[in-house]
Amino acid sequence: MSTQRILSGMRPTGKLHLGHYTGALENWIEQQNLLQPDGTRAYETCFLIADYHTLTTSLDTTSIYDHSIDMLIDWLAAGVDPDISPVFRQSQIKEHAELFLLFSNLITTARLERNPTLKEQVRDLNMESMVYGHLGYPVLQAADILLYKGNIVPVGEDQLPHVEITREISRKFNIHFPHPVLGEVFPEPAPKITKFSRLLGLDGKTKMSKSLGNTILLSDTPEEVAAKMRNAVTDTMKVRRNDPGRPEVCTVFSYHQRFSSPDTLASVEAGCRAGSLGCVDCKKMCAAAISAELAPMLEKRRHFEARPELVREILLEGESKARRIASQTMTEVRQAMRLGEQGA
Ligand code: TRP
Ligand code: SF4
Repeated sequence: MSTQRILSGMRPTGKLHLGHYTGALENWIEQQNLLQPDGTRAYETCFLIADYHTLTTSLDTTSIYDHSIDMLIDWLAAGVDPDISPVFRQSQIKEHAELFLLFSNLITTARLERNPTLKEQVRDLNMESMVYGHLGYPVLQAADILLYKGNIVPVGEDQLPHVEITREISRKFNIHFPHPVLGEVFPEPAPKITKFSRLLGLDGKTKMSKSLGNTILLSDTPEEVAAKMRNAVTDTMKVRRNDPGRPEVCTVFSYHQRFSSPDTLASVEAGCRAGSLGCVDCKKMCAAAISAELAPMLEKRRHFEARPELVREILLEGESKARRIASQTMTEVRQAMRLGEQGA
């Protein structure tokens, strides 16, 4: 059996935060680096910058390039290795648009309107302002995945409906358009939910999100992390230092669970409950634990920030690798669909 391919992507909204890291990026890198017992790579990994997808919610494209580069630097700083995993922008590979168009005819509008992720967005935005392309968001995502014949798609829970739609489109294509040699052109990709999908925001209310301004960025310095942490919401019943607290309702404790060592975690929990640990000290320890994990990333970020040409080259190189795969897939698609002379 050939190596399974992992394909995932993110919309370029600028610098990434800890929620992106624990919810996706960390897992991408783990899969990228995973080896089989014989020393070969367990997976092929490809990571996509979904710049077309940002158009469905905003036509302001002034920062689309800068945001893409900022996000790419975060990926590289966190450990995405462009020699192993091609990184590329959707908009630079024409085949995304082409396959999207063909796939648009393999799914009904009723099916797309039933998509729970879309329904949530309709509730939050309003239907009047929703563009045609927004309905097709998952169809473009299906093209992203299937163009590279992705077998595994690591995503957060909110993306599950999109992967389900991708599976349906793949089945429908394979049934309608058997390939004369390959039989089936597309795999039926499986989603892979990331374990730590949700990291609470500093306000303790919902998940970390740029629009809510409750984030710690991967690029925050130790001073910035400490300053943000001072404003984090804790157990509101613990007012004075010596009041006993309830770690299970505390946002800061949820960060300790992810970033502190088991020993620190145990002593924080005991100290909080006993009222011997104050929130100010507890937050300092938490900020230090987070910054310790971010330190190597900060250093790598500086390396890439100082070399914009290198970052650009990495992107162009990734795009030329991606283009080769995409164009091969489209040849097979055209053959299967009998479009053009190759289909005869
Ligand atoms: N829709 C995804 C998100 O918002 C981003 C994305 C675009 C994606 N294309 C993809 C994710 C393909 C996985 C595979 O996070
Ligand atoms: Fe939260 Fe730490 Fe304060 Fe306990 S001591 S409430 S865990 S910040």
